[in-house]
Amino acid sequence: MAFRICLVCLGNICRSPMAEVVLRSTLDRHGLTEVVVDSAGTGGWHVGEPMDTRAAAALAAAGYDGSRHRARQFDSGWFAERDLVLAMDRENLRALRRIAPPDADVRLLRSFDPDAPEGAEVPDPYYGGEEGFATVLAMVEAAAEGVAVHAARALGRPLGRR
Ligand code: 4NP
Repeated sequence: MAFRICLVCLGNICRSPMAEVVLRSTLDRHGLTEVVVDSAGTGGWHVGEPMDTRAAAALAAAGYDGSRHRARQFDSGWFAERDLVLAMDRENLRALRRIAPPDADVRLLRSFDPDAPEGAEVPDPYYGGEEGFATVLAMVEAAAEGVAVHAARALGRPLGRR
């Protein structure tokens, strides 16, 4: 059995690919190898492109490797192949819910951060400076542990008892 998670932002070159790399690292650390993680954008402008250089640099500075990413656009057919779809902001969440089947589990990524307020978003860093990418990294790191706990429970493998 697997648990499949898709992380979604607007362009799939900044926030969701950063979240994908961080979440995969968190899951690996917990030995949760059955959890499959990918990412996509609600928009298609950057399909096929690597991660934004500022996003890759922020990851590299923290010891992560973002070099293998290529951007993709989310397709409504993917809901059937994912157990959890996580949006970076409320606009992405609305866009996903418009095309989601009724049984789809679609939430904000930061809803898994116990210290984040209700409705908290990962803000779009694309038109800002480098500090915005450091903020994104801190936010996705703060949420990743909660996502791992959720996935472990769904797999019947509570963390710390493996
Ligand atoms: P992302 O950032 O959604 O975090 O990948 C953006 C990337 C590109 C654009 C907007 C946001 N854009 O308008 O092209």
